[in-house]
Amino acid sequence: PAPGWSIDADVVVVGSGVAGLTAALRCEAAGLATVVVTKARLDDGSTRWAQGGIAAALGEGDTPEQHLDDTLVAGAGLCDEDAVRLLVTEGPDAVRRLIATGAHFDESEEGGLELTREGGHHRRRIAHAGGDATGAEISRALVEAVRARGLRTVENALVLDLLTDAEGRTAGVTLHVMGEGQHDGVGAVHAPAVVLATGGMGQVFSATTNPSVSTGDGVALALRAGAEVSDLEFVQFHPTVLFLGADAEGQQPLVSEAVRGEGAHLVDATGTRFMLGQHELAELAPRDIVAKGIMRRMQEQGAEHMYLDARHFGPDMWEHRFPTILAACRANGLDPVTEPIPVAPAAHYASGGVRTDSHGRTTVPGLYACGEVACTGVHGANRLASNSLLEGLVYAERIVTDIAAAHAENGLHARVPQPVPYAEQPAHPLLAPEIRFAIQRIMTEGAGVLRSEASLATAAAALDRLHAEARDALAENGKTAEPGVDTWETTNLLCVARVLVAAARLREETRGCHWREDHADRDDTDWRRHIVVRLNPDRT
Ligand code: SIN
Repeated sequence: PAPGWSIDADVVVVGSGVAGLTAALRCEAAGLATVVVTKARLDDGSTRWAQGGIAAALGEGDTPEQHLDDTLVAGAGLCDEDAVRLLVTEGPDAVRRLIATGAHFDESEEGGLELTREGGHHRRRIAHAGGDATGAEISRALVEAVRARGLRTVENALVLDLLTDAEGRTAGVTLHVMGEGQHDGVGAVHAPAVVLATGGMGQVFSATTNPSVSTGDGVALALRAGAEVSDLEFVQFHPTVLFLGADAEGQQPLVSEAVRGEGAHLVDATGTRFMLGQHELAELAPRDIVAKGIMRRMQEQGAEHMYLDARHFGPDMWEHRFPTILAACRANGLDPVTEPIPVAPAAHYASGGVRTDSHGRTTVPGLYACGEVACTGVHGANRLASNSLLEGLVYAERIVTDIAAAHAENGLHARVPQPVPYAEQPAHPLLAPEIRFAIQRIMTEGAGVLRSEASLATAAAALDRLHAEARDALAENGKTAEPGVDTWETTNLLCVARVLVAAARLREETRGCHWREDHADRDDTDWRRHIVVRLNPDRT
């Protein structure tokens, strides 16, 4: 359908996590007419679920240079060093501005920020809030600031496609909105600058720490718009996710790295600490190494999970430092004060995404990306723990600097959007919502923690079949699933899953969080490079 309603703005921010709301607040402060659109409510999305915290060189004796070194090591040779340098040098002030916006972080008895450690960090540099509820506090503070400043927001608004003018410049986005009165149905926000901050794609796998809204919508939009997408093969599996059974599906409770940062041990069923001797940092090695250590031990012992033992914390520390995790364990019938926690890796973070430069600019003029949807180059082949909230903050601010400079120089000119591509005939066959589960199973079996050419080829063929069936139904009888949030999400999941599998097949090496059974070594001769994908917009 063609848009039934429209809003005009200078900037439309799509998504309402730390990156989106930071961008929106700074745009508004720069005098730009800003609209925030978000798929569910303002505080839904991944930010709210972040536990461990936000990394920045804020502690005594710590420096951006040391933070840079740890980030580059975790990134396994594929970080863009300049992008990381911007992150770590601008990071401390960005956190201070977040505090000035209203976020309250935990403080030590001496009065400064209380900092913890996580995997891959050689120093205590993770600021946290509410013990293990950092994301919830950041989200609360930003949502309150957005409301207090009266920013224009449209909730329950699923972004569909980018609008462009005749020269291919950004002209806005189309949206599918439900339950928002005058903005119900398909509509559009017309704006010459679009900031994608739609988060990740964890829902492409069966078990993930990501909420149900993380369906790769921004990457799928960017692919359909002809923007470049990079590094999709680097999906980070968090090592310690509460194990709720081999068949558990959807969002699973995270057991933060910070639990290991405060001294918890990974053990097998016999109580043996199997990470000792595998890395100088043992349980606090970078995340890919710990996830692999757990998977190897599970394979060797034919076990479905390992254990995280933090009984020695005692009840007070559990209650004050990790109340969220304690509650999640207890809700699932486990008491970490008296028993070890069963844990296994699950999909957690997309290190790749829509490719951007140091100001968050994508390859489509006027289209920006920040947060998990973006690939700024800071994460390389494996993100360092707690760098994601920081990246959302720093790069959102860098985007606003760029938009505000363009505005000051020439003004931001509204563009005349070309008709939406599917006004007459749907260009993308929409998939029935039930197919979501088939996609997740195919991806978990074929493109999960452990991959090979055989497993990836099977996954690719199964995904292609789903795509061909939907296309044939459209070509033969014009039939496509009823447009709606769930059909669009499923369609987006299939789109990103196919690109992810293609990239993972191409990368015939093991590096960072991409682990190929059939190419067990890192190959710096052929593969110290990125896989960049750009689809022909007519052939998605
Ligand atoms: C955690 O608390 O372990 C998650 C931190 C992160 O993903 O950066």
